[in-house]
Amino acid sequence: MMWKATHTEATSGTVTWKSPSNIALVKYWGKHGVQLPANPSISFTLDACHTVTRMDWTPNGAEEMNIRFYFDGEEKPDFLPKIEQFFERIAPYVTPLSGFDLEIHSHNSFPHSSGIASSASSMSALALCVCSWERQFVEVSDAEFYQKASVLARLGSGSACRSLYGGLVAWGKHADIADASDEYGVPFAEVHPVFQSYKDTVLLVDRGQKTVSSTVGHQLMHGHPFAEQRFGKAHENLSDLLVALNKGDLQLFTQLVEGEALMLHAMMMTSTPHFILMKPNTLSIIEKVWAYRQETGTHLCITLDAGANVHLLYPQVEEKGALAFIDSELAQYCQKEHYICDQVGLGPMQQTEKL
Ligand code: DP6
Repeated sequence: MMWKATHTEATSGTVTWKSPSNIALVKYWGKHGVQLPANPSISFTLDACHTVTRMDWTPNGAEEMNIRFYFDGEEKPDFLPKIEQFFERIAPYVTPLSGFDLEIHSHNSFPHSSGIASSASSMSALALCVCSWERQFVEVSDAEFYQKASVLARLGSGSACRSLYGGLVAWGKHADIADASDEYGVPFAEVHPVFQSYKDTVLLVDRGQKTVSSTVGHQLMHGHPFAEQRFGKAHENLSDLLVALNKGDLQLFTQLVEGEALMLHAMMMTSTPHFILMKPNTLSIIEKVWAYRQETGTHLCITLDAGANVHLLYPQVEEKGALAFIDSELAQYCQKEHYICDQVGLGPMQQTEKL
């Protein structure tokens, strides 16, 4: 690591990053220490669902750091506690930001109330802004830059550390991924081409607020009667999924990915207190997808996060048929018939245009 200048010499500046959301195939559910995962996970990086964040810094001639946060152009003091917690957590690892006023502007490509978690895209975008700020003073390679951004993003929200690269990203130590780490995500490249252009149509079943926050959800795995079995199974499922991803085995992929989603919800249904986050429409969608798959021999596969929305994963070659089916059979179960067409993306991009 080479120091270029001290941060006290810094003048004002600005940087803007666009960073995507991701959808986990093997789920992260349970954590320990400072944002360390109880089991390894892997996700598709998305494209259309993303956050654009701009960070401006101005020396304030004092010792402290002051933050103002704006969402879609409007100042949002309510969001500050989460952002301040992020800056407190990353403080031991980054060039000090004390002595600067920060103005942060953020915009999500998806509606705030859509039930799509924005923590992965927003925390990864913010982590990238901080790393760009730091790059003024410290010489780092691109590989080091993104790895550090992943560490910082993780401290903001676990799943965010998987949004720093395109394609497939694994997070958490695993016997079959040599460079995997609990501290940051790593791109997983040994993937059959079919998965490089995979589609994800997000069916917005419930646009309301989640009834269990992920923070509370992860805590439910402490003392959960099936915790050890779950963590063991995640390791096994990831081993098997790596084979499916490598070979392009869509049947094995579907079996594992759907099993993971249902196990995540099974964990919530069997914790104390218990939660059912699926809605009747979630189940109607799952039944219709399974019947369609049976009838057509295609590979539509469902996955779920900690909510009622359904992510529908399928290969690009099946897109036309899938979209026609979604439109005629599934849109009716979505709030205001709303769904988002997304796909596997290339990862974050620094923006030259100011937000
Ligand atoms: C169900 O990353 O939102 O989406 O670390 O508390 O911010 P925190 O949790 P978060 O949890 C995501 C859980 C999940 C599965 C996954 O994305 O792996």
